[in-house]
Amino acid sequence: MKIIVTESYEEMSKKTADIIEEELLANDNIVLGLATGSTPIGTYNELIRRHLEGILDFSNAKSFNLDEYIGLSAEDVNSYNYFMKDKLFDHINLPNENAHVPDGLTDDPENYGDSYDKLIKESGGIDLQILGIGANGHIAFNEPAEELRYTTGPVVLTEQTIEDNSRFFESKDLVPTSAVTMGMGSIMKAKRILLLANGLGKADAIAQLLNSKKITTFLPASLLLLHSDATLICDKEAFSQVNIEDMAGELA
Ligand code: PGA
Repeated sequence: MKIIVTESYEEMSKKTADIIEEELLANDNIVLGLATGSTPIGTYNELIRRHLEGILDFSNAKSFNLDEYIGLSAEDVNSYNYFMKDKLFDHINLPNENAHVPDGLTDDPENYGDSYDKLIKESGGIDLQILGIGANGHIAFNEPAEELRYTTGPVVLTEQTIEDNSRFFESKDLVPTSAVTMGMGSIMKAKRILLLANGLGKADAIAQLLNSKKITTFLPASLLLLHSDATLICDKEAFSQVNIEDMAGELA
């Protein structure tokens, strides 16, 4: 894993947008894997700015999002469908039909997941996948557990994730308890992966990722150490508990 440590959240977001820009300019048919959460918002703002300045054209691009809560419609303000429209899609020229976010209202999430993976495959696979990391090391909604999903499909959320995400809901009781998520296999098939992390809240997960020298399903992000083109881009706060002498990966 390559590692880029930045001075600030803004610098992390710009560096990530620089890489997306480089890949998009080299391939206007790019297939992007996109994430929700507070981490990528700065990156999305950068992409919007560069689009409005005429640098980035998304008209031939496609995107696939990682996950969606089960039970929330695309119109629900807490859904990831809504988040993506609000934070990115409504402000760039990615055609609606090219922007895919899992459907939280599917009545057969297992089959739906298979068809989502099939669609990614038919689109040529994900060229560049953007990922956040949970404070517990989760990737998308692949939560720490003895077993992780390989393919896309339904998962039950952990107490910590429900707690972490309750800040967006009126009360914790309203946070859905399950989701459709891309599985670890679906994510690892991306040709290139950018893992983003900022703030002290992620410092423990990043230290575990880089210092434990182990791959474990109890830290789903650790599977990314097996990917041949994965880069961690994190600010110095998220990196603050890493022991540099004893680190898995190389500083870029
Ligand atoms: P965050 O979430 O960007 O809101 O911190 C990341 C995640 O849970 O994957």
